[in-house]
Amino acid sequence: MARERTTYRCQACGFAAPKAGTCPDCARLGNFVSLVEERATPSRSERPRLAVGARPVPLSEIIVATGERITTGIGELDRVLGNGVVPGSLVLIGGDPGIGKSTLLLQASRSLAELAGPVLYVSGEESAAQVKLRADRLGVAPRGLYFLAETDLTVVEAHAADLKPRALVVDSIQTMFLPGLESAPGSVSQVRECAARLMLFAKGRGVATFLVGHVTKDGAIAGPRVLEHLVDTVLYFEGEQHHAHRLLRAVKNRFGSTNEIGVFEMGAQGLAEVPNPSGFFLAERPKGAAGSVVVSSLEGTRPLLLELQALVTPASFGTPRRTVLGADYNRVCLLLAVLEKRVGFPLQSQDVFVNVAGGGRVAEPAADLGVVVAAASSYLDRPVRGDTVVMGEVGLAGEVRAVAGLAVRLKEAAALGFAAAVVPQNNLAADTVPPLEVHGVGSVDEAVKALLGH
Ligand code: TYD
Ligand code: MG
Repeated sequence: MARERTTYRCQACGFAAPKAGTCPDCARLGNFVSLVEERATPSRSERPRLAVGARPVPLSEIIVATGERITTGIGELDRVLGNGVVPGSLVLIGGDPGIGKSTLLLQASRSLAELAGPVLYVSGEESAAQVKLRADRLGVAPRGLYFLAETDLTVVEAHAADLKPRALVVDSIQTMFLPGLESAPGSVSQVRECAARLMLFAKGRGVATFLVGHVTKDGAIAGPRVLEHLVDTVLYFEGEQHHAHRLLRAVKNRFGSTNEIGVFEMGAQGLAEVPNPSGFFLAERPKGAAGSVVVSSLEGTRPLLLELQALVTPASFGTPRRTVLGADYNRVCLLLAVLEKRVGFPLQSQDVFVNVAGGGRVAEPAADLGVVVAAASSYLDRPVRGDTVVMGEVGLAGEVRAVAGLAVRLKEAAALGFAAAVVPQNNLAADTVPPLEVHGVGSVDEAVKALLGH
């Protein structure tokens, strides 16, 4: 008889402990999350297993039937997946609530049903009528697209086994539950066990399976983070609620490369692909405006390009003003001091305003050079070439220091249509064959000369 033990689990990161209290892992990061009691993890015999009675075989003797990829009919999604979705793979799409995950998957389901065969769309969040309304808004639904409003995973499995779909969408994994488990839907153990069951289903029957997972800012609900090791592909759908563009990124992909991004625009007819992202991103940038510079910010392993703006105007009286939005105030003051001392700009008599456009944030030193160049550009009233991205950490001596992950940053810039980059000289030797025209600089002075001709 298996002994039933009570464990206490962190709902944010999945950490388990035998006693109640605060999660030590999250506490180290400054988040105080209480551990939640969790009973009855499934006994060993109930746990899903990939293959029963498997024995070791030489890797060289395994024959793999290279399954064909199914195109989702949405080019940007196909690209991020690695040229279409692999039958039998499990794809997790994470993102903030309301960002458009259901819309994206409904659109993908429509074209998959048209191109590949039956698709089952399971929703635990919306009623059939709600989904139908959205589908109507997006266009006519094909015959092969089936809908099921259900949260009991065993029922979902039974229907899916009946219908034998080519693709299965589960929206969202947080709403699904296994009746055998005591913990509530959305808890770490439910989410994990449900995903494990769906993985077996997907692999066993060769069904391409998409899971939707909500991420919350504080990670209070069991986020899709706990699933990342389990699934084959993890995509993040992100964007600003108040802006129309959405980015789809692969952060893990067993069947393709990560670092790929898909760009969409949310409109009245759902998500439209943006075939030329650079044009789209640059569309909102002021043309030839002084003080506007594109910088690269690496968030974890994900590079992001942001527009940094500076406005330098003569101070009317007293201490000059420094106003900073979306960047660190002290860092900006330090960089302005470097610009004053090392390049000789008399900023003591100037008010300086720095802003990251679109409500973005830059949190890393690689954006330093961008701040310096934006301020210099505004002071001189001379614009920086619009297709150039600037990156580099700036030291107090005015030197430009190497940045981490230059290759991924350059790749992202090239993917978004940028033609040139100004980067730290020290980075250049290590990274060969950049995907765009690269100019190495060793000091702030050199960067200002190269970009502004001063
Ligand atoms: P949704 O796909 O429901 O988000 P998620 O599943 O990630 O929670 O999309 C929600 C938002 O998208 C909603 O605020 C309305 C907007 N939207 C449009 O602007 N146009 C459309 O055609 C559709 C279907 C949704
Ligand atoms: Mg949804």
